[in-house]
Amino acid sequence: MEKTPFRIIQISDTHLFSDADKSLIGVPTQKSLAAVLDLVKQKAGTFDMILHSGDLTQDYQSSSYLRLAEMLSIFNVPIYCVPGNHDDPEMMTKIYPYEKMLNDKQIIKGNWQLILLDSHKKDAVEGFLHASQLAFLEDCLQKYPKHHAIAVFHHQPIPVGCHWLDQLGLTNSEEFWKITARYPQLKTVLFGHVHQQFEQEINGIKCYATPSTCFQFKRKQNDFGIEDLPPGFRWLHLYDDGHIETAVERVDHYVGKFEKNTKGY
Ligand SMILES: [Fe+2]
Repeated sequence: MEKTPFRIIQISDTHLFSDADKSLIGVPTQKSLAAVLDLVKQKAGTFDMILHSGDLTQDYQSSSYLRLAEMLSIFNVPIYCVPGNHDDPEMMTKIYPYEKMLNDKQIIKGNWQLILLDSHKKDAVEGFLHASQLAFLEDCLQKYPKHHAIAVFHHQPIPVGCHWLDQLGLTNSEEFWKITARYPQLKTVLFGHVHQQFEQEINGIKCYATPSTCFQFKRKQNDFGIEDLPPGFRWLHLYDDGHIETAVERVDHYVGKFEKNTKGY
């Protein structure tokens, strides 16, 4: 019988406000997150970790970061996160650890290691992996050459097919890909930022994005647009032999008012 896999729930782009009732593009972000967490309770079964791939809050307020940690801690598993463009990385390292939300950036579990990187670029929407982050990635990979590795950061390292959004991805992705080429144990990348489900393999590396827990960007569009799709989460099962099973689950309804003609946020 196959050994139980290591089970991760990935959520992304929660965009919480200190005002629990406040909406972003018609979506009350806390209520929408609560609907996703209800779905996790119904569908996910037992799992071992929650991973948040960035844009935890929309207003940089400590109360927003604290409330997010409290909401996610009901599952009683460790929670890890990376900062997005809407986050304040310095504030996050001061606030966390809090409840089950931890600050660790290298996680070793069985045959696997997860490497959490900061792609936040100050005062910018697009992302960048600073030399110190790339060095950390390489150091982790060198220390555990036999472990299957997953890199996690906020900004997409490959185009997702939305022209406007692909101008705002990881701007030095070629440096990231150069490193991955030297470490064949790194076969998976997880990210957020794109507010849509996305799966693509590039050079033998699987890239997965997770829908936002609030609103979704319209897929395959040149210009900004919002898609009438409900929020959701991704589950991942990591097996000892290096293979991964994963899928996205969505709430059965859009939470809030769908603002079709929104031009940005
Ligand atoms: Fe976001």
